[in-house]
Amino acid sequence: MAVENQTQDVMERVANANLKQLGDIRIDDVLLFIDRGLENMPTYMDLYNRWEKQQWAVGDLDFGPDRQRWQEATDLEKEATLWGRRLFFNGEERVTSTLAPFVWAAPKPEIEIFLSTQMVDEARHTIFFDRWWREVVGTDAADLKAILEEIRPDTNPGYNELFYERLPGVAQRMASNPRDVDAFIEGVTIYHIVVEATLALTGQRFELESLREEGLTHLGYYQGFTAVARDESRHVNFGIKVLQEAVREDAERFAPLIQRTLVECLPLISGTIHPPDDRYYSEFGRSEDELLEFAMNALNKRLRSIGINLAA
Ligand SMILES: [Fe+2]
Ligand SMILES: [Fe+2]
Repeated sequence: MAVENQTQDVMERVANANLKQLGDIRIDDVLLFIDRGLENMPTYMDLYNRWEKQQWAVGDLDFGPDRQRWQEATDLEKEATLWGRRLFFNGEERVTSTLAPFVWAAPKPEIEIFLSTQMVDEARHTIFFDRWWREVVGTDAADLKAILEEIRPDTNPGYNELFYERLPGVAQRMASNPRDVDAFIEGVTIYHIVVEATLALTGQRFELESLREEGLTHLGYYQGFTAVARDESRHVNFGIKVLQEAVREDAERFAPLIQRTLVECLPLISGTIHPPDDRYYSEFGRSEDELLEFAMNALNKRLRSIGINLAA
């Protein structure tokens, strides 16, 4: 019981933390919310209410310490950091631009409301990276379009297929026919389970843990990225809930659809986290295998609560 109370306390602290307090919070404690949700799923309105309470502003972050740290970083550290942050920055813009058709295709109003809150989150995440890039790395790009062209990742074919073909492709199907429930379920599988639950949260966990190990929790980036991860944990719980309900409603129809989508996307997951230079992970004391293993464990945990497995 003591352990249970402790877990509740930690979850409360994460739920109510402001930006500054997020600097004292560990990413694994943020992720607790998802694991707890697997046992006791929040309603769509619970998730909406959390969103109301967990507002934060990019404009409140101070990137002064980040600038100073950046000037001290080695060339390899800068190169490795920029590789990962290009994927994130561009990815946040991609998921902002493709979410509107999901809102239109939402099978019920509570889902439509939650997804509208998520759209605001994704826009804020994009601006978080825009500001970090401008104030810490520096750029001559005059506007968002120009900076997105400048930072567009070109090293990972798996990433390109996921963000420039699969995701916009399924969004286009929903835009063409908002009553296409199969497209909606396939879309949530790609967006919330592959991109957010498996790729984004794995990347966030390892990056935030590395910053913590280096004693860099005072950076504006650490605080902001932890806020991003807390938002993502709501999005992921939402996605699990949608798919869990679909499988409970009609397993014969939806389970094979979700499984097929995942099997098709698995190579894109490993294709996204594969660095162009092995030193990009070892620079931070990590390895590609370690990330892949964490991603697959996280995916399997979520699939169990949706009610499917990949082997079937
Ligand atoms: Fe995001
Ligand atoms: Fe998200």
